[in-house]
Amino acid sequence: MLIPGTHNSGSFAGVVAFLEDYVLNQDRSVWTQLAFGIRYLDFRIGYYNGDGFFINHDLIRVTKVIPLLKEIKKFLQLAPKEIVFLDFHRFPYPTNFTYNLHKKFIDIVYEELGIFALPSTSMEVGGGPTVNEVWKQNKTLIISYADKDTVRDNPWLWHPLSQYWGDTTKVPALKNYIQKTINERNPLGSTNPNWALMAELTPRPIDIIFRRNGLRKLAHDANVEVTKWFRDQWGKKSNIVATDYFLGNDMINVAMSINSS
Ligand SMILES: *[C@@H]1O[C@H](CO)[C@@H](O)[C@H](O)[C@H]1NC(C)=O
Ligand SMILES: *[C@@H]1O[C@H](CO)[C@@H](O)[C@H](O)[C@H]1NC(C)=O
Repeated sequence: MLIPGTHNSGSFAGVVAFLEDYVLNQDRSVWTQLAFGIRYLDFRIGYYNGDGFFINHDLIRVTKVIPLLKEIKKFLQLAPKEIVFLDFHRFPYPTNFTYNLHKKFIDIVYEELGIFALPSTSMEVGGGPTVNEVWKQNKTLIISYADKDTVRDNPWLWHPLSQYWGDTTKVPALKNYIQKTINERNPLGSTNPNWALMAELTPRPIDIIFRRNGLRKLAHDANVEVTKWFRDQWGKKSNIVATDYFLGNDMINVAMSINSS
């Protein structure tokens, strides 16, 4: 299925104005993203002694994570047939995010969201579950977690999910990269059947130093084109597509029409 998602989904508010241009990837809350139809959320987690767990953008802490987990929980309660992918994709701070810190974190995740989590053991070899299989188990949240040791000890978590990054500031280069990824990706290269194309541009360090573009401008450049690519060419060959400032594209409608055709 084609799944519309957001990149750095929790990074939508909470930093001083000077940092916003290069730290925020979204401008709508997690709740609003889900209500619009976003079904893949990409979270990066930091831990600060005394203050607890935060959404981070690399080393910058953005906002507390527990209120966001509660928004997801409320959505799942109100919309029991909607299937949501939650990807704890990076743990940038502290740099030695230890096994015990992971344990402390997933205890919180389990308390908020454990009853909704579809166990990874429900996965068939070589593919993900069908929508009917998910509904039959009445567990509609698929949580992937980017620490193998933690996943090994917690079958309610799914293996790390591959994200494919173009790492470019140019729209044509992003297009080439996505085309190449779709053609050449090895589906056996990952132990999670889901995979995410990161359909956004990435500023270079020099752009950030001289404040040349900003994530909102880069998202604007990519978003119109991204909609067309997946609507006209790649919709049936892709899985998760994650974007910045998602209201600038029409991937939610594209996904609904591709998945029902
Ligand atoms: C790693 O984490 C441990 C436990 O929190 C801490 O005591 C230690 O100083 C850290 N080491 C490094 C190299 O950051
Ligand atoms: C599905 O799961 C939710 C959350 O655990 C629960 O409230 C609900 O009663 C369940 N529905 C069925 C039909 O089992």
